[in-house]
Amino acid sequence: MFRFIIYLAKIRRLNKNKNKKWKNNTFFHNFATEIITLHCIVFISDINLGSRPVLLAPMEDVTDMSFRILCKEMGASMVYSEFVSADALIRNVQRSLDKIRVEEIERPVAIQIYGRDVESMVEASRIVEQEAKPDVLDINFGCPVKKIAGKGAGSGMLRTPQLMLDITKAVVSAVSTPVTVKTRLGWDVATMYDAQTFLPDAPKGKAYIVELAERLQDCGISALTIHGRTRSQMYQGEADWTLIGEVKNNPHMTIPIIGNGDICTAEQCLDAFERFGVDAVMVGRASLGQPWLFRDMRTFLDTGQHDSSMTLEWKFSVLRRQIEQSVAYSLREDNGLKERRRTELGGIIHVRRHLANSPLFKGIPNFREMRIRILQAESRDELFTLLDKAYDLIRQSQSI
Ligand SMILES: Cc1cc2nc3c(=O)[nH]c(=O)nc-3n(C[C@H](O)[C@H](O)[C@H](O)COP(=O)(O)O)c2cc1C
Repeated sequence: MFRFIIYLAKIRRLNKNKNKKWKNNTFFHNFATEIITLHCIVFISDINLGSRPVLLAPMEDVTDMSFRILCKEMGASMVYSEFVSADALIRNVQRSLDKIRVEEIERPVAIQIYGRDVESMVEASRIVEQEAKPDVLDINFGCPVKKIAGKGAGSGMLRTPQLMLDITKAVVSAVSTPVTVKTRLGWDVATMYDAQTFLPDAPKGKAYIVELAERLQDCGISALTIHGRTRSQMYQGEADWTLIGEVKNNPHMTIPIIGNGDICTAEQCLDAFERFGVDAVMVGRASLGQPWLFRDMRTFLDTGQHDSSMTLEWKFSVLRRQIEQSVAYSLREDNGLKERRRTELGGIIHVRRHLANSPLFKGIPNFREMRIRILQAESRDELFTLLDKAYDLIRQSQSI
């Protein structure tokens, strides 16, 4: 909007001065382009995410600060923290307090919380706002894990939508930070096409997520992320984007809809925007071991071409840097981590899972054995040696 106002001001000035630039076609071309671009820019509240934003999904034990910073540098439009328990924040659990720390360079950043009652979620959201000052506060209503969903939190809330709405409304009014929600298509396939199962006053034959999205929007949230699976699917089967598209195309919806599930390539990302019309795409597992995926997706969305500047050498240098940063983050004096993690090993444990999942290594003969060694490595040097070996093996296989 700001840029638009500036343009209008420029036009007025040019018109007044009868400046010959007024006749300059380039100016009008730029003006038209600007209007088209402005139209496509996605805002969560007043946070400008640019056009066709690609977001790093919240992932427990994966999206710590070091990984978020790396993904941001690689082009992620916004990054999410691991989920944090509201109860643990209230109890001042150090590990949870550590999870809500953010650095300026990773902004815009969302901190995600989960819990199962209104009071604790309100209290936790205030703690997050005060301590971390995130750009967005995200509520997790999607975690399928038994110890969370079974107790009614995360995706368990899909069976108690009134409580979900009460929590959302209360959190929205408790903080001035924009609040967003991340959830799934429904509890299971048997109930996801019939909103009346859990919302008896919903219109007959309406899909659950379509009705739920409208009601969440009425609670005042600033965006909604939908993972295209039900709770009972956990992470099995393919994500179904049809209902995500239905929510997006519902004329009652005005907030940004973020689609999530099984987006692994730049082509799939573009397809999600074009076929389902979502405002943003969120990428989770595919970013493990290849944070440069965001850069490739960004380039592809903006130019229709892959980023050919990302050579094998460069990708390995990114992985090395990821190891260094993970260790540096773990060793940070001021991060309040418990003694156990304030060691090189803490950073290594975190990063080795990323490396072991890197698609770079697919196709290396006997990679299984190397993967096990990566997962057992206990020092930076061990990991560097394994990376060097992997690099040589890939080079050899390429020259055959
Ligand atoms: C290891 C792991 C941890 C996750 N932790 C969270 C979490 O803390 N909060 C959340 O909302 N979703 C979490 N998820 C779900 C992801 O955010 C995402 O919705 C899901 O993986 C589907 O997207 P993808 O196919 O791009 O991975 C997690 C997923 C994985 C694989």
